[in-house]
Amino acid sequence: MTTATFAKGLEGIVAAETQMSYIDGQKGVLEYVGIPIGELSSNSTFEEVVFLLWNLRLPRADELKEFTAALRSNYMPPEGLIQRIGALPKTAQPMHALRTLISELALYDTTPNANDVDAARAKSIRILGMAPALVACFDRHRRGLPFVKPDTSLTFAQNFLYMLNGEAPTPTMARAFDICMILHADHGLNNSTFTARVIISTLSDVYSALTGAVGSLRGPLHGGANEGVMHMLNEIPNLEAVEPYVMGKIERHEKIMGFGHRVYKAKDPRATDLQKLAKKLAEDTGNSDLYAKSNAIEKIMEREVASKGIYPNVDFYSATTYHCIGLKLDLFTPMFALSRIAGWSGHVLEQLRDNRLFRPKAAYIGPHDAPYIPIAER
Ligand code: ACO
Repeated sequence: MTTATFAKGLEGIVAAETQMSYIDGQKGVLEYVGIPIGELSSNSTFEEVVFLLWNLRLPRADELKEFTAALRSNYMPPEGLIQRIGALPKTAQPMHALRTLISELALYDTTPNANDVDAARAKSIRILGMAPALVACFDRHRRGLPFVKPDTSLTFAQNFLYMLNGEAPTPTMARAFDICMILHADHGLNNSTFTARVIISTLSDVYSALTGAVGSLRGPLHGGANEGVMHMLNEIPNLEAVEPYVMGKIERHEKIMGFGHRVYKAKDPRATDLQKLAKKLAEDTGNSDLYAKSNAIEKIMEREVASKGIYPNVDFYSATTYHCIGLKLDLFTPMFALSRIAGWSGHVLEQLRDNRLFRPKAAYIGPHDAPYIPIAER
């Protein structure tokens, strides 16, 4: 008989095995399949990282070429879905649109429930390939602009920015976006990844698993924090206002978005990479004030709460980075989702390879033998 222990928020509970990402939260280490994240963000591409996560090894040149071609052949969503986006309310939020549209992709798949590992991999590449067009098409629809068809000669990062803006991005912007995609691709058993694994463990389907994961990611305690960071930066009028703003929040026991992490008790290594990127892009795009405010917030937080293990997480500097790339605030979390489709799908494949239904228990803390009181007497 096993003894059941209760851990609120499943803190410290090991609920799955993975070969994809390794995190040492005390030392601030993140590796994908053993390769330090900094190595990958400096030398790799998003496409190569997706191959790495799904195959647990780096591709040879011919394999990368083949994988990239397969991804590009999925850039164009079904025509019916593009028309459908044109009928969505323009006031809808992009994360709600993305969640709905990933779910709707299943309606255009003749075998949506096939979830042997090969079928699940094919569906994953389909969703990853099409998701950028779904986000870009919805954003253009709400701006009253026509859909820009994907360009299969472009990389994942280039193609997204091209479909969003109607013009090819500069190499600097495309590379910055590619690095953001690499940094957000996978991160252990975070809440949205756990959601995906829980759903697929019922032998449901990849679309359902990823739809649930998008819903999880949008929460402000998870991927939605990057939007919260930008709201905060907009609320702080200038550098002088940073100290009273942050101290006020700390005194009121309010959380500063983009800080703290269930696993990291040191600076998130992705935040270190994104900080460099944010600084450079901010200088290049005339947004140095934004970077300066972020940096000042970090210094105050270091002084005040580092002793509790609260440091910047991935969302903190990604806000400035995305703003400098020219993305609207409510596209920040969808950007995170586009990249994390890689991780969610990889975890779905891992779960399918060695599945066991997730079914934890709840400790019942209510009454027993309670009387049934007739409705008229309540
Ligand atoms: N600002 C100020 N204080 C904080 C912060 C923060 N961002 N985060 C945690 N703390 C403090 C808490 O107030 C608490 O202090 P206390 O012990 O004096 O009461 C202590 O640190 C522990 O905080 P918990 O919320 O219990 O820690 P938990 O592990 O549950 O939280 C979480 C992790 C949810 C990420 C939290 O740090 C948070 O809400 N951060 C802000 C939202 C955010 O940035 N989320 C993105 C995370 S990264 C990602 O999901 C992609």
